[in-house]
Amino acid sequence: PLPFPGGRPRVVVTRKLPEAVEARMRELFEVDLNLSDAPMSREALAAAVNRADVLVPALGDRIDAGLIGQAGPDLKLIANYGAGVDHIDVETARRRGIHVSNTPGVLTEDTADMTMALMLAVPRRLQEGAKIIEAEDEAGWKGWSPTFLNGRRITGKRLGILGMGRIGQAVARRARAFGMSIHYHNRRRLHSDIETGLDATWWESLDQMLARMDIVSVNCPHTPGTYHLLNARRLKLMKPSAYIVNTSRGEVIDENALGRMLKAGELAGAGLDVFEREPTVNPDLKGLPNVLLLPHMGSATQEGRLEMGEKVIINIKTFADGHRPPDLVVP
Ligand code: DGY
Repeated sequence: PLPFPGGRPRVVVTRKLPEAVEARMRELFEVDLNLSDAPMSREALAAAVNRADVLVPALGDRIDAGLIGQAGPDLKLIANYGAGVDHIDVETARRRGIHVSNTPGVLTEDTADMTMALMLAVPRRLQEGAKIIEAEDEAGWKGWSPTFLNGRRITGKRLGILGMGRIGQAVARRARAFGMSIHYHNRRRLHSDIETGLDATWWESLDQMLARMDIVSVNCPHTPGTYHLLNARRLKLMKPSAYIVNTSRGEVIDENALGRMLKAGELAGAGLDVFEREPTVNPDLKGLPNVLLLPHMGSATQEGRLEMGEKVIINIKTFADGHRPPDLVVP
């Protein structure tokens, strides 16, 4: 039997999506859109899971056990708009017979581009340079000089990728083209063909890898196993000349420890697109010339946002037609 009588599920979308995605959803489903784009309150989310056949949440919506407990009998699919599902209690959903899907793949290249952007911008001191151009007073540009804004070279440096999934591998391909040597730590070692293709060196010991790298890029998901994986002890293993880049999830790094070390000059710099308590940013990370902070925009391209919407629609439609959604998240 089809999961939704008539094949047109009642889909509640928690955030404003691109117009084209919303229009397509209206054609296919009974949709309940959030036109204001304000994040839903806890009460509004509870009402949403109560009336929905399918919920389309996004980053920032806390779909925890308490909320899932308030789901109505019709909720059968949580089709997340985004790849990361750390804001969804997938195990509790599974126990209640609610499927969860996400949108992997379509944001891989964009997120890897953003990782490279940070990896280039911080060692080459782009934010300091841009600030000097903008300054109207004596802090402004006095002209070229041999000693002016000398950063650190990328070519020839060791890059340590923490998490070698789709995005980590896309970062590796790019960094190779920039002449970096590629190292990675991952729970599972890559198939030797992939490892050879990327010319990447696997480190079983994260500690040992951290101690040797010039740049560390965080590309693993946030799970109970990766929470504060880069804690104070591990950050201290890094060379004081090393940089750290994070386009994954803030929770993987102990932000207090990182802030303290950056302030004390115990690391060369950081490029961070994600934070532990978004949209709040740890004040210790702010105001440092060698730290570039971005508001979680790694996957924010017009193309990517449309493709994420297409993925959500395909997941819902496939499920409504009685099949397994292609991007089912298995806890
Ligand atoms: C993702 O898809 O996980 C991005 O971080 C936005 O949610």
